[in-house]
Amino acid sequence: MKKLLCVALAAGFGAAVLPAQAQTSMPEAQVNALEALFGKQAGSRRSQAKGLCATGYFVGNADGRAMSSAAVFKGDKVPVVARFSVGGGNPKANDKGKSVRGLSLQFNLPNGETWLSANISAPMYFVSKPEQFAPWVQVRTPDPATGKPDPEKLKAFNEANPETLLQAAYLAKQPVPASFATQNYFSTNAFEVTNAQGMSQFVRWQFAAQAGVMGLSDEQVKAMPDNFLADDLAERTSKGPVSFDFKFQIAEKGDPITDPTQVWPETRKLVTAGQLHIEKLAPLSACDNITFNPLVLPAGIKPSADPVLLARPAPYGVSLGRRLSEPK
Ligand code: HEM
Repeated sequence: MKKLLCVALAAGFGAAVLPAQAQTSMPEAQVNALEALFGKQAGSRRSQAKGLCATGYFVGNADGRAMSSAAVFKGDKVPVVARFSVGGGNPKANDKGKSVRGLSLQFNLPNGETWLSANISAPMYFVSKPEQFAPWVQVRTPDPATGKPDPEKLKAFNEANPETLLQAAYLAKQPVPASFATQNYFSTNAFEVTNAQGMSQFVRWQFAAQAGVMGLSDEQVKAMPDNFLADDLAERTSKGPVSFDFKFQIAEKGDPITDPTQVWPETRKLVTAGQLHIEKLAPLSACDNITFNPLVLPAGIKPSADPVLLARPAPYGVSLGRRLSEPK
C-alpha cells in the first residue's frame, strides 16, 4: 500500500514538472495561435473580436414545427440577444475587410431552455478537422525575423490541406459587405433535427437577409470610413426591425455531414422555419459574458458528428476564461 502511494505521488510530481509545451491542449493551442497572429487583445474575443450587441426576437412557424419539436418553433415571440461581428482576432479591425461577418444568437425560450448559435457569412468553414485550426493560423503568422509568413511552410500546408483554401477563395470573390443587415449567415456545421413524430434529418441552417445580400462597389469602399457597420445597423434599426428568414437546408443521402468545408448542392431543399427580427442595439456588456457555444441546443436539435462542431466549445471556453479575467 505504502509502495503504491509512493508510485502515485512520484507520477503526480512527474506530471507537474513536464515542460509547458507538452501540456498544451488542442483548445489552448488554437487560442494561443490566434493570439500570436492578432496579438493578445486583452478583454476581447480571440476570434470575431470586433462586434456589437443587439436584441430582438424570433418567431418559428408550422414548417419549422414539422421538422423539429424544439420549442423555438412553437410560434411564440422568443427573445434573442444577438452579436454581429467582423472576422479575425483584432477588436479594431477595419469594416472594409473581406473577412467573414458573424451573427451569433442566444435564444431565451419560454420553457427555460437556451439555444446558442454562432454563424458566419460564408457557406463553408476553413478547416475540415479541428487539428488543422492551429497550424492553419500558424502558417499565416508573420515570422518575427522577416515580418512575413514563411512561404515554404505556407505552401506545404496548403498543398497538404487543399480544402482549407475553399473559404478564402469564396470570400475573395465576394464584395465588401455593405451592412450586417445585408448578409446571409450560415451554420456551416450540420445538426440533426427531430420532430414530434420522432422523424430525424440532417440539416444546416442559414439566416437569410430580408433586405437581400448587398456589397459595396470599389468606389463606395473608398468613400466609406473604416468603421461604418455599427452606425449603419443603429440607423437601420431606428427605422424598424432588421429581419432574416431562418432556413433549414436538408441533406440528401451522401451529402457530407461531418465536413464544414464542403457545401451541399444548391438544389438541396430549403425550408423557411421562422423569422429573426433585430430591434435595437444593446450595450456591449450585454454580450460580454456570453460565449456562443453551438452545442447549447434545445430538445429537438442535436449536434451532428462533425468533429469541428464538437471541438468548438472548448476553445470558446478558453477564450471566455482569458477575456473575462483580463482588464480591458
Ligand atoms: C475548431 C474550430 C474552431 C475554433 C478553434 C474556433 C475558435 C473560436 C474562438 C476562440 C472564439 C471566441 C469565443 C469567445 O471568446 O466567446 C470563436 C468565436 C466565433 N466563432 Fe469559432 N471556432 C471554430 C469553429 C467555428 C465554426 C465552424 C464557425 C462557423 C459558423 C465559427 C464561428 C464563430 C463565430 C461567429 C464566433 C463569434 C461568436 C460571438 O459572437 O461571440 N467558429 N471561435
